[in-house]
Amino acid sequence: MSTSISGFSKLTKTEKIDWIVSNYLSNSTTAKDTITQYFNSNQKLQQLHDEFIENTISNYYLPLGVAPNFVINGKTYAIPMAIEESSVVAAASKAAKFWMERGGFKTTVISTTKIGQVHFMYSGEEKMLQAFFNTVKPKLIADTKSITANMEKRGGGILDIELRTKTNDLDNYYQIHATFETLDAMGANFINSCLEQFAKTFKAEAEIQLDNDIDIVMSILSNYVPECLVRAEVSCKIEALADKGIDPETFANKFAQAVTIAEVEPYRAVTHNKGIMNGIDAVVLATGNDFRAVEAGVHAYASKNGKYTSLTHAKIEDGIFSFWIEIPLALGTVGGLTSLHPLVKVALNILGNPTAKELMQIVAVAGLAQNFAALRSLTTTGIQEGHMKMHLMNILNQFDATKTEKENIINHFKTNTVTHSAVVSQIEKLRQ
Ligand code: HMG
Repeated sequence: MSTSISGFSKLTKTEKIDWIVSNYLSNSTTAKDTITQYFNSNQKLQQLHDEFIENTISNYYLPLGVAPNFVINGKTYAIPMAIEESSVVAAASKAAKFWMERGGFKTTVISTTKIGQVHFMYSGEEKMLQAFFNTVKPKLIADTKSITANMEKRGGGILDIELRTKTNDLDNYYQIHATFETLDAMGANFINSCLEQFAKTFKAEAEIQLDNDIDIVMSILSNYVPECLVRAEVSCKIEALADKGIDPETFANKFAQAVTIAEVEPYRAVTHNKGIMNGIDAVVLATGNDFRAVEAGVHAYASKNGKYTSLTHAKIEDGIFSFWIEIPLALGTVGGLTSLHPLVKVALNILGNPTAKELMQIVAVAGLAQNFAALRSLTTTGIQEGHMKMHLMNILNQFDATKTEKENIINHFKTNTVTHSAVVSQIEKLRQ
C-alpha cells in the first residue's frame, strides 16, 4: 500500500526521515540508524551536501579510488575514480602500468563545439521564415551580449546560429540550431541562457515582422556533442605485447578479433562499451561532471551510423598493434560541482587542475585503458578470475568476516580459484 503526502518538501530533514521511516520502513528497527549513521559530523560539510539536491535524507557514499601510472602524451597522471564496482580501479591501474612501459597513451582533442537548439513551430511559408531569420540573426546575437560578455573575454561564446527546417520529420517543426565554445565550463547554464534569450527575441521580432505566429516549444542544449570529440590511442610493436603468460602474436590477433566482434554485433557492443564507461563514468563522477549527459551523448555517438557499435577500434598493420577510442565528451573543470564539492576539488588537484580539454583526454584514456584491461582478461584468462579476485573482499564483508578470517581466506585464495561458493565453504570450514 503506498502512502502519499502533500508538503513533504517543506518538512525539516528530521521530519522527512521520520515520515519515510514510519510510512515505508516501519518493519525495520535499524532503518533510521542506517540513514543517520552516514551524516557527517562537520555541520558545514553536511549542509553543503544536503543542499546539492532536494529532499535530502542522508549521504550516499561511493568509494574514491586512484589509478596511478597513466602516461598521457609524456606526462604521468594518477587518475581519481569514484565507482562502486570492484576490479575497475585495479584493471585501470594494470592497463596504465602495462602501457607506461610501452610508450604510454597519445591523445588529441579533435573539436570542442557544443550545441543548443530552440525548437519551434511555424505554419507559414518557409521562404518567409528564412528571410526573417536572416534579418533577425544579428539581433539574436546582440541581445545575448550581457550573457556572453565574460565568455567572449576568455575567448569563447556563440560560434554560429542557423535556421534548420525539420518539416520532413514533423509538420511545421523548425529549429534555431546554435553552436558554442564554452572553454573550461561544461557550459549548460551558459548555453541554456543564450537559447532562452534567442527564443525571447525571436518570438518578439516575429510578432512584429511575420504574418504567421511562431510557437516556441522549448530551448535547451543538446547532450549529443559529436563535434566535441577526443581521441586516445596506444600502439606498439606486436612483440612488445609480450607479458607474463602472453604470446604476443596470438594475443594481438585475438584482441583485434574481440574488438571487431563488438564493431559488428550490438549485443556484444553494449557490454564492450559498458566496460569502457566503467572507466569514463568513474572519472567523470570524481571530477564533478554530469555522467548522465556523458552516457547519453556517448551512446548516441556509438549509434551514429544507424547501428550500435564499439566505441574502440584496433588494427594490426606492418607488425604494429594499435588500439584507439574516439568519443564525444562535454566536460567542465570550472563551475558547477567543481568549485563546490571538496572531494571534486581534491580530484582535480590530483590531476594538476586540468583544463577541460586536458580532462577530455584523461577521461578518454581511462575508457580506453578499462577496455584494454577487460579485453585482455576476456581473451586470455576469462573475466571471472580477476573480477572474483577483487570481489573476494565484498563476499567476506557480506559474511562479516573477522580480520583473522579475512587474512586466512585471502591467503587460501592466492592459490585457489575464487568463486562465491568456494569462499562461502571456506568461511564455513573456518567457523566449524
Ligand atoms: P592481476 O594480473 O591478477 O594483478 O590482475 P597483479 O596482482 O599481478 O597486479 C598487477 C597490477 O594490476 C598492479 O600493479 C596494479 O596496477 C593492478 P602494482 O600495483 O602491484 O604495481 N592491481 C591492483 N590495483 C589495485 N588494487 C588491487 C590490484 N590488483 C592488481 N587489488 C586484475 C588483476 C583485476 C587487474 C585483472 O584481472 C584485470 O584487469 N581484470 C579485468 C577486470 C575488469 O575489467 N573489471 C571491470 C568489471 S567487469 C565489467 O563490468 C566489464 C566487462 O563486462 C566489459 C566487457 O565485457 O568488455 C568485462
